[in-house]
Amino acid sequence: MDMSLVAVFVVLVVVAASAFFVKPMLSSPKAMEDIPGSLGWPVIGESLSFLSEFSSPPGIYNFIKTRQQKYGKVFKSFVLGRFTIFMTGREAARTLLTGKDVSLNLFYTGQQVLGPTSLLQTNGEEHKRLRRLIGEPLSIDGLRKYFEFINMLAIQTLDNWTGRKVLVLEEASTFTLKVIGHIIMSLEPTGEEQEKFRSNFKVISSSFAALPLKVPGTAFHRGIQARDRMYEMLDDIIHRRREGKDFHDDFLESLIMKHTKGADQEANNEKLTDKQMKDNILTLLVAGHDTTTAALTWLMKFLGENPYVLERLREEHQQIRESGKGGENLSWSEINNMPYTLKVISETLRRATILPWFSRKATQDFEIDGYKIEKGWSLNLDVVSIHNNPEYFPQPELFDPSRFDEPMKPFSFLGFGNGPRMCPGINLAKLEICVFIHHVVGKFKWTPLEKDDSVQPTLVRMPKNKYPVLVEPL
Ligand code: HEM
Repeated sequence: MDMSLVAVFVVLVVVAASAFFVKPMLSSPKAMEDIPGSLGWPVIGESLSFLSEFSSPPGIYNFIKTRQQKYGKVFKSFVLGRFTIFMTGREAARTLLTGKDVSLNLFYTGQQVLGPTSLLQTNGEEHKRLRRLIGEPLSIDGLRKYFEFINMLAIQTLDNWTGRKVLVLEEASTFTLKVIGHIIMSLEPTGEEQEKFRSNFKVISSSFAALPLKVPGTAFHRGIQARDRMYEMLDDIIHRRREGKDFHDDFLESLIMKHTKGADQEANNEKLTDKQMKDNILTLLVAGHDTTTAALTWLMKFLGENPYVLERLREEHQQIRESGKGGENLSWSEINNMPYTLKVISETLRRATILPWFSRKATQDFEIDGYKIEKGWSLNLDVVSIHNNPEYFPQPELFDPSRFDEPMKPFSFLGFGNGPRMCPGINLAKLEICVFIHHVVGKFKWTPLEKDDSVQPTLVRMPKNKYPVLVEPL
């Protein structure tokens, strides 16, 4: 896209989003007067500067840094149709991520697509209940039964990499989607159902960053339609399972077993409805797919740029191979024996900061850094500044996994978040990455085909060019 197209796109997004959010604009919070910062231009606020930084290599870091230098750690702005208070630092992280006075603050598109009973839209006891529900299948023990599938799929995926030009992001995306489709509903990695699942998911995924206009022909409308098709697919599978026509030992089966209503009325009240099940399955897909895809892609990119780290990582995996429990025979026990790989993953998440800010809404009045925050305000925890703070991470621009040799200060590393909303998919993400990387570094060397550090203008940060590389056998 050239710059003029970007400008048109940005103006369209901003005007439409602002028109949609006209109500919060009219109720311009006078109470915010005490908070330093600028609300920018009428209607569009500071959205243009915010969006124009989106796809630059440092992302919104530039936007944030300029304002922090001017106003300090807490400042107000008006971006993407919202009056927002940006804040940073470990104390702000602790307050926003563990405090009782905030809830998650999804954009309208996300709220509509994911449905009202999604984990991301619940708070308090209901949120805890849903977390418990997904906690067990996504725990290390719960994931063990999927290890063979993940290992086999990684080997198959990489089998056709040799001597080819590969778009790492595309490959990672296909791999992670097949993994989650298998874990949730035992989808075969190839075939018509997989294709349907994949194409619907792609449309849903791109609707999150779309204009909030539910009119036929728009990306948002297509997203809602694809969501409905995905739910029909799930209804069909749930029906077959309940009829006993199909059985698989997977996430969906465990939900169906626990949550099919019976004669006991009291017990029935505790059970999830089919709608709740579907909303939360979709939530896991959406929250887990782009993030893991991005992490795998950034990791390979950082390895490509840091030969010393790649060499150390190879040594760790070579030792596993030499023990006879690696390569095609990679065993579950070895997954828990990759200390350097785990540090490389953490450093990747720090350097890339895949989710550069965490959005919250104040559910009560409270104070932070001496500023009064009022109920209903939109609050963004600026993670990118925390991950680039030299006080916590000396020479933050370096990709240095050994900085994780020492325990981190609390709330300084937020790759998977913290507190009650910390990522429940952390074990799955690490498992997928460890397996995939074990085979990649053991088999291949790769050369990037382009030097372009731009980033896609999406909520999850990913290399814009999908990281094209030429792969050769070692
Ligand atoms: C490397 C991959 C991943 C990264 C970097 C990542 C990162 C995060 C972060 C930072 C949060 C907290 C956001 C906040 O506090 O606002 C989060 C939440 C979440 N993640 Fe992940 N995630 C990854 C993979 C996964 C996977 C594989 C799944 C599921 C299969 C998943 C499901 C979720 C869900 C459902 C939440 C919301 C939790 C809640 O609100 O209680 N994530 N993730």
